[in-house]
Amino acid sequence: METNKIYQGDCLEVLKTFPDESINLIVTSPPYNKGFWSKNRNMNNGFKSFNHKNSTTIKTKSRRIEYGVYDDKVNPKEYADNQREVIKECLRVLKKDGSLFYNHIDILSEHQTKHPVWVYDFPVKQVIIWNRKNTPKLDKSYFFPITEYIFWIQKEDKSRTKFNRKKAIFNSNVWEINPDVKNKFPAPFPEELVKNCILTTTDEKDIVLDCYSGSGTTALVCAKTDRKYIGIELNPEFVELANIKIQKELSQSKLNNGNGIPPNPKGIGYPWDDYMKKIIIEIETESEDSLIIKELGRWLNENFVNKANIKIEW
Ligand SMILES: C[S@@+](CC[C@H](N)C(=O)[O-])C[C@H]1O[C@@H](n2cnc3c(N)ncnc32)[C@H](O)[C@@H]1O
Repeated sequence: METNKIYQGDCLEVLKTFPDESINLIVTSPPYNKGFWSKNRNMNNGFKSFNHKNSTTIKTKSRRIEYGVYDDKVNPKEYADNQREVIKECLRVLKKDGSLFYNHIDILSEHQTKHPVWVYDFPVKQVIIWNRKNTPKLDKSYFFPITEYIFWIQKEDKSRTKFNRKKAIFNSNVWEINPDVKNKFPAPFPEELVKNCILTTTDEKDIVLDCYSGSGTTALVCAKTDRKYIGIELNPEFVELANIKIQKELSQSKLNNGNGIPPNPKGIGYPWDDYMKKIIIEIETESEDSLIIKELGRWLNENFVNKANIKIEW
């Protein structure tokens, strides 16, 4: 097992190669399987490949987050079983006093809530509410769903997890953090969320894993807080882009330490800026969806288009 590396591959396969009790902390967020529960799940959704080098258009009839090589549309039983396996492996590689922070949501579909019940097969130490304070789900038949869960899971029922609340940025079980709109990756962690987990449950040089690494936020926060990181990510392009982001952070911090140049508060740019601005989303609307699509469009334009240079066609 190598540290300060993002492994490319399926997390379950890669995790199986790691030794028992080798990781201090895991902070992670799987794809939520929203695609399965979306209204248009049975349609041929016609995604083009998510390849920034030669593809500029994502076509979809459904409103799903698209991760490229991963299809976020799995039979729910298979999905839950796979998540159980992943959590089981995570707990195997976790040290006795380690913590797993596992982010998930309630999916609202067909006037019911699908709760991530599989987490309760494991020793959930505490349920943390991430209050995002806004939502892209504008469906008028629900209260706005503005929260997500972070399940704090420990290795065994009576584990004594390493924890120091004095180091917390958020010291209650409600963390109010806006989504990271600077990061154009679909569904990234805000850095503060990861930082709260890292500061309270690890020491410098400890090893932190994110087995659904995505844009590499967990690794980036490790680089900023002097922890060792390990990422696992299925999509090779995301691995490449996350590595660029981390290298930029590392060279910047070296620069700052070396000659006293103050850090640029805005960072030195996310590789996602170049990546995502080339994408055009075409949504083929149906009459029953048109109101929601329109509202969603307004919200996206307000929150993203000008800032992110993403062109959205409806
Ligand atoms: C919700 S995103 C994670 C975002 C991440 N927390 C961040 O801050 O950018 C989920 C990621 O899991 C990846 N993924 C999906 N299935 C996977 C698997 N079996 N193994 C590893 N990564 C996977 C997707 O490509 C996607 O990048």
